[in-house]
Amino acid sequence: MNLLLKYKLPKNVVAHSKKVAKIAVEVACELKRNGFGVDLELVERGALLHDIGRSVTHGLDHGYFGGKILRKEDGGGEVARIAERHVLGGISKEEAELMGLPAKDFIPKTIEEKIVCYADKLSDRNKIERIEKKLGRNAAFDRMIKLIQEVDSMRGRVQELNVYAVVRDSKGRILVMKRREPKIWEFPGGGVEWGESPEKAVRREVKEETDLKIKRMKLLCTSSKVYKKGRITKHSVYIAFEGRGEGKVKFGVEHSIAMWADLKRIRKLKLGLNVEPIVGFLNVDR
Ligand SMILES: [Fe+2]
Repeated sequence: MNLLLKYKLPKNVVAHSKKVAKIAVEVACELKRNGFGVDLELVERGALLHDIGRSVTHGLDHGYFGGKILRKEDGGGEVARIAERHVLGGISKEEAELMGLPAKDFIPKTIEEKIVCYADKLSDRNKIERIEKKLGRNAAFDRMIKLIQEVDSMRGRVQELNVYAVVRDSKGRILVMKRREPKIWEFPGGGVEWGESPEKAVRREVKEETDLKIKRMKLLCTSSKVYKKGRITKHSVYIAFEGRGEGKVKFGVEHSIAMWADLKRIRKLKLGLNVEPIVGFLNVDR
């Protein structure tokens, strides 16, 4: 803190640095609980001082100047490297050269450097949007998003994409299936595989789980939920389709019962997280 005063950092930068330090320490504790080795004191000191270079400039080179100050003031290079490497998701050797900085890479490598860089990006809701506006979607932007995803996954935060189908029979009734474990009712569907289109994924899942083919398929709605699953926090995004089922239902080992039901009946069942918002959507008059 004394260094922040000595270098006369503007009030807003001091407030920002304190906020980043708070987030960084929280994330560091989370990662420690998840079994990663993290130096908490280094994270806190690095986060408090990461923007000290703003006493020289507010340009993208403020990280570099911060590193220079901290090498002189702080002795060891660990905190200096945190400051040098926190800008965007790090700056590559080529980018550094273009900016007129020494030709070396300033990309976060240690877990402490990654945490401070990550906490800085998370400190303000609109920060990533602002960076995208300023820089566009280039290699530096992609590197930043990758770093955020890397720390997210160390925190046990997982985002997944699922597709579901509201399959109707000729009378308009909807197919619902009861899972063996947990015992909840749901629509056929599941996870989108890497590189697969949502339409293809929903046809594949419906075929695998019910042996039905979907005819006249159309997009119904999208929804999402954030929930805890053991130590992991999941953000599941759902895309629901609607269509006519063709064939005879043959369900597999995942489910114990399947039935065609109307909405009134479905609303009385114990529904899965994925089904609730879709049923809510079906309730709306269209
Ligand atoms: Fe910064």
